[in-house]
Amino acid sequence: MSKKDDKQTNPSWGGRFSEQTDAFVEAFTASVDFDRRLYLQDIAGSKAHAHMLQKTGVLDDSDCEAIVSGLDTIIEEIESGRFEWRVSAEDVHMNIEARLTELIGDAGKRLHTGRSRNDQVATDIRLYLRDQIDIIVSQLAEFQSGLLDLAEREADTIMPGFTHLQVAQPVSFGHHMLAWFEMLQRDAGRMHGCRKRMNVSPLGAAALAGTSYPIDRQMTAAELGFSAPAANSLDAVSDRDFAIEFCAASAILMTHLSRMAEELVMWSSAQFDFIELPDRYCTGSSIMPQKKNPDVPELVRGKTGRVNGNLVSLLTLMKSQPLAYNKDNQEDKEPLFDTIDTVVGSLRAFADMVPALQCKRDNMYKAAKQGFSTATDLADYLVRKGLPFRDAHEVVGKAVAHGVANSRDLSDMTLDELKGFSDRIDEDVFEVLSLEGSVAARNHIGGTAPEQVRKAVAGARQRLKGE
Ligand code: ARG
Repeated sequence: MSKKDDKQTNPSWGGRFSEQTDAFVEAFTASVDFDRRLYLQDIAGSKAHAHMLQKTGVLDDSDCEAIVSGLDTIIEEIESGRFEWRVSAEDVHMNIEARLTELIGDAGKRLHTGRSRNDQVATDIRLYLRDQIDIIVSQLAEFQSGLLDLAEREADTIMPGFTHLQVAQPVSFGHHMLAWFEMLQRDAGRMHGCRKRMNVSPLGAAALAGTSYPIDRQMTAAELGFSAPAANSLDAVSDRDFAIEFCAASAILMTHLSRMAEELVMWSSAQFDFIELPDRYCTGSSIMPQKKNPDVPELVRGKTGRVNGNLVSLLTLMKSQPLAYNKDNQEDKEPLFDTIDTVVGSLRAFADMVPALQCKRDNMYKAAKQGFSTATDLADYLVRKGLPFRDAHEVVGKAVAHGVANSRDLSDMTLDELKGFSDRIDEDVFEVLSLEGSVAARNHIGGTAPEQVRKAVAGARQRLKGE
């Protein structure tokens, strides 16, 4: 009597084995707890595979029908919570196949003809990620459109622009929002590019080398909405560069959100006091009654760390794998899913919260009047009156030093006082030294003049529609 006769081995591969998998190993190698979220994609892939096998004559009509209706029953069972997920069946693929065989008998066992879990899982993840990218792209568009409304509303709102977090030159708050818009526009472009490259069908690659059955890879690719079958079977089952690319695009996107978060946190502090975030996005303190904490931006800033970490996980996961599939790849899912969930959650919060912020226009204006934000305008004025720029820079530097010593802005000095630094200065200097004059002067494509901000908003609305 062989060992096999008295020990129960795994129904999916037990033929070659003489003892049962160790219980710890079974739990250690199982992925069902996290890959079950792929059930809809797994079932769509199985249906496409079954339809194709029927067409090429590998499956007869009645088997194909039984498979398709059995899979529909399984969707119902999963969605009503009646489906029993079993760790012993390891992953989403084998859980579904085992249940299908319970439901329809031998036809269920025929589904895996000409297929492997290797091309199956590579297909499932691509289908899933493709849908999630579509969600992310539409969330980005919603957030961007909110930013454009805010930019238009606040085109004339003047705030200090910073370099080195020191007051540099006055800018329009709307212009600042348009900078955020552009960052997100590139993020959306990266998501589109990633989607396009990943949208090829691994089905038919089977374990690694393809299959000896007559298959129609164009047919399964078309049924699943892929642009084409993947060109090489080894590559199709083994690479996860599309997941890496998505995580890289997400890390950049989250880095953008994190920079925005940082500004929101600063601007809502008592020291800046530039904006008021909607109460529904803030929390209080259990001890300090006065507190209104910007928790949501802080959390988004914090979550950027895990998304960056997920990218590094996937890069490291891939870097030493020989072709073709290795079990290492099962580790792709948790970082990928966590990235998706984090990005979707963060965008949802920002798309709602940011356009609802209130500008404290007077405070921004007052802050822009500090720090000699129109010093460059005075230098440019002197250049227009014939002084070389370097000399003008020197003259204005002295005027600023005088202002610092006397706690006075350039625009608060008298004409005589200013003339003391250069006799080229006349009465018309005061237009130049005003915040309004400073922003209005930067009247070119990409500049901060309110007129340009309004034009840029209109142009951005077109681009948002077109892409
Ligand atoms: N759960 C596995 C994964 O996520 C499915 C593929 C398993 N393939 C294999 N040859 N063991 O990668």
